[in-house]
Amino acid sequence: MAFFKSATREVPEIRVAPRHIAIIMDGNGRWAKKRFLPRVAGHVKGVETVREVVRACIEQGVEYLTLFAFSSENWRRPAEEISLLMQLFVSALEQEVRKLQKNGVRLKVIGDLSRFDAQLQTMIRDAETATADNTRLTLTIAANYGGRWDILQAMNRLAQEQPEKIGQWTETELEPWLATHFAPEPDLFIRTGGEERVSNFLLWQLAYTEFYFTETLWPEFDAEAMKSAIASYQRRERRFGRTSEQVMEGKA
Ligand code: IPE
Ligand code: IPE
Ligand code: MG
Repeated sequence: MAFFKSATREVPEIRVAPRHIAIIMDGNGRWAKKRFLPRVAGHVKGVETVREVVRACIEQGVEYLTLFAFSSENWRRPAEEISLLMQLFVSALEQEVRKLQKNGVRLKVIGDLSRFDAQLQTMIRDAETATADNTRLTLTIAANYGGRWDILQAMNRLAQEQPEKIGQWTETELEPWLATHFAPEPDLFIRTGGEERVSNFLLWQLAYTEFYFTETLWPEFDAEAMKSAIASYQRRERRFGRTSEQVMEGKA
């Protein structure tokens, strides 16, 4: 199992390009509404944005891209919309896996998959296996994912593995059980669609991530918009608890 630096236990090395970008893809419904289209038309267009953003990440040297596709709270939506979203997920898997393979993209899906139907679960596992050796970009889709679920499932698994240490676990022991154990912590978090909230996304993992919010609706987010987000990231000073002077000394 690969081990990545934790922002709370050591100061990670900072690169010019963000290594890991995590995105809440929001605003599909509003994009459709503006055009007098059904909400699902926004989701269909949103899949095109995913393709473009994956391409842009590869070009910019981003190594990990994590996309929030369906939250544990999205089950509260109308049954018809949920069912259309599931169909879209299935068809995207059917159509895209070969392309991901060709472009060196490793696919991962995180979340409580037990609530999906058996066919979809098998497709997900097959797609992950087929792309497992690719190294250019790791594309993670968060589906039926919740940050609270993630922390809890990690704790429950740790309790099974190390019952003798209950009450004495450390961050280092918990992290390998998080759903994102195969990726470093995100450098940049983007939320499109104008809302400024985290909506139960990667609660543990975002501890020192830089946040970027944009009014742009997800179906209109493109390579140019991605560049602006990365440029904003590059203007930040990531201090990880230190003073600005200490950061400057470290660079000198
Ligand atoms: C994000 O777009 C996609 C999912 C949550 C699946 P929304 O469907 O939330 O779009 P808005 O927020 O209603 O515009
Ligand atoms: C968050 O979007 C989840 C995804 C993008 C999958 P929502 O649009 O569902 O978020 P809230 O509920 O408005 O915060
Ligand atoms: Mg929304």
